[in-house]
Amino acid sequence: MKYCFLSLVLMLGLFASCTNTQNEQVMTKNETIENLKTRRAIRSYQEKVPDMELIKKVVEAGTYAPTGMGRQSPIIVAVTDKAVRDTLSRLNAGVMGSENDPFYGAPVVLVVLADRNVPTHVYDGALVMGNLMNAAHALGLGSCWIHRAKEVFDSEEGKALLKEWGIEGDYEGIGNCILGYPAGEYPAPAPRKPDYVKFVE
Ligand SMILES: Cc1cc2nc3c(=O)[nH]c(=O)nc-3n(C[C@H](O)[C@H](O)[C@H](O)COP(=O)(O)O)c2cc1C
Repeated sequence: MKYCFLSLVLMLGLFASCTNTQNEQVMTKNETIENLKTRRAIRSYQEKVPDMELIKKVVEAGTYAPTGMGRQSPIIVAVTDKAVRDTLSRLNAGVMGSENDPFYGAPVVLVVLADRNVPTHVYDGALVMGNLMNAAHALGLGSCWIHRAKEVFDSEEGKALLKEWGIEGDYEGIGNCILGYPAGEYPAPAPRKPDYVKFVE
């Protein structure tokens, strides 16, 4: 009788821990979805540079993006050096014929490039960019995709930078993920267009 009671207690305990694990998984999933929905393009930054530990976490999340056939065609260049960041800003602005900082004062730029020889390289790079921006948000950082990486790294000055960084190969610039602590008001999302999703049931 004593053993029966003990087994019952054990089974109940096991059941409770299973339910907990399931609940925890559901909680985690919801947090992820909240994070995806609340990330916004940040266009105003504090001067403070995030700790390298934090930047590394963002970059690591980027490397876990899915890639076509798992070929990992993209690379990420994490720029925290102010002079290099300013050069990238100048080159990027130059593509638009502008002199303003297209990086909105963000102190960090994560440049994503991808190997042109891989047919899925643009999709791969775009997914890395998505991971970087969502990971940044999850860690309390602001980010924004800044375009024209292709034009910058197809230019002679851009190619010279890649060479200086020891990057060899046929890389296409996919995007610049600017990073830093948001300043000012957090932007609200634009309403989603009504015909965004069609259910075919
Ligand atoms: C491919 C791509 C290129 C973008 N290029 C720029 C850019 O050069 N400058 C900029 O300020 N924002 C850029 N953005 C950010 C978008 O403008 C922004 O994601 C969009 O307005 C939606 O806002 P949200 O990210 O807050 O939802 C780019 C986004 C994508 C996906």
